[in-house]
Amino acid sequence: MKTIYVENFGGPEVLAIKDLDLPKIKDDEILIKTMAIGVNPVDTYIRSGWYSGSKIPYVPGFDASGIIIEKGPKINDFNVGNRVYCFKSVSGTYAEKIVVKQGQIYKLPDNLSFEEGAAIGTPYGAAYRALFHKGHAKNGQKVLIHGGSGNVGLAAIKLAKSLNMIVVATAGSEEGKGLCKEAGANLVVGHNIEDFKEEILKFINDGFDIIIEMSAHNNLKTDLEFMAMYSAIVIVGSKGEVPINPRNLMSKDARIMGFVLFNAKNDELLDIHRNLFELFISKRMKPPIVGKTFNLRDAKEAHALVERGSYGKVILKPDN
Ligand SMILES: NC(=O)c1ccc[n+]([C@@H]2O[C@H](COP(=O)([O-])OP(=O)(O)OC[C@H]3O[C@@H](n4cnc5c(N)ncnc54)[C@H](OP(=O)(O)O)[C@@H]3O)[C@@H](O)[C@H]2O)c1
Repeated sequence: MKTIYVENFGGPEVLAIKDLDLPKIKDDEILIKTMAIGVNPVDTYIRSGWYSGSKIPYVPGFDASGIIIEKGPKINDFNVGNRVYCFKSVSGTYAEKIVVKQGQIYKLPDNLSFEEGAAIGTPYGAAYRALFHKGHAKNGQKVLIHGGSGNVGLAAIKLAKSLNMIVVATAGSEEGKGLCKEAGANLVVGHNIEDFKEEILKFINDGFDIIIEMSAHNNLKTDLEFMAMYSAIVIVGSKGEVPINPRNLMSKDARIMGFVLFNAKNDELLDIHRNLFELFISKRMKPPIVGKTFNLRDAKEAHALVERGSYGKVILKPDN
C-alpha cells in the first residue's frame, strides 16, 4: 500500500511516496481504508525536526477519515463498513490504510463528507478543548478568537456561535475575513492593521470573557488589555517568547493557560467528539470548511501550502 514516508527531517521534499506492506492488526486494533487525510501545521513542524521527541523514519499525520475494513476480536463499539474519522493512529495517517486503536476513532456523522471528516480531529478537537475544557465557555459570553481564519479559529467561531456567544475574530487578509464571517463571527478585524485595538474596543468596551490565542508570541501583551473581570486567555499556538505585565492579570482576577491536544485524556477526547457529533448531526453547527485537495503522492505541495498559509482545510486523497 502507498504511504508517505519520512526518512530524514527537512523541508517538504522529504515527504516521499513509499510502498509498505499492509499492516497486520492486533486484537484491540482496527484497519481503516482512508478516504481523506487532514494536513495540520503540526505535521510540518514534526517533518522539519522542530518538534521535540520526534523520531525518524515515520509515516506522518494524525487526522483522517475512511471506512473500517477489518477489526480485532476485542473491538465491540465499531463494525466493518462503519464510516469513521480519527485523531491519532498507530501507524500514521498519510497512507492508503491505517491502523488505529479504539479511543483514536469516532463515528463520522452521516451528513458529513469524508473530506469534512478529515478536517475534524485536530482543529475541532483543539477548538473544543480551548473553549470548553479550558475556557469554560458559557452561553452569551464574549470571546475574541485571535487567528479566526485558520482551521482551529474557524472551528472555534462555529463552536462559540453554537452557544450564542458574541464572537470577535481576527484575520490577516480579505479572504480570511470572509471565512470568519461565513463561520458566523459578529465582528471581524484585521490582525495586521494599526487601529485593530480601537476597532475592537469600539465594539466591546468592557473586555472579553475568553480570548482564544493562535499567535501568543505576537499578541499576548495586547490580549491583556482586552480582558474582562474573571476572564481567561487560552493559548492554542505560540512560536516564541513575549514579555507581559502580570499586574494586568491581577487587576482582573484573570488567568492565562495553554494546552497541547495530545495531552488530553481518553475520557476528555470522548467528551469532545461525542459533543461534536451531536452538533454536526443536529446541524446546530455547519460542517468544516474544506480548502484545497491534493493526491496523497503530492503531500509535498500540501505541506508547502500549509506553511505559506492556506484557507480551509488542506486534504490529501489516496487513490483507492
Ligand atoms: N495546542 C494545540 O494542541 C494545537 C492544536 C492545533 C493547532 N495548534 C496551533 O494553533 C495554531 C493555529 O492552528 P491552525 O490549524 O488553525 O493553523 P492555520 O490553519 O495555519 O491558521 C493559522 C492562523 O493563525 C493566524 N495568524 C497568523 N498571524 C497571526 C497574528 N499575528 N495574530 C493572530 N493570528 C495570526 C492566521 O491568520 P491569517 O492567515 O488570516 O493571517 C490563521 O488564522 C498553529 O500555531 C498550530 O500549530 C495547536
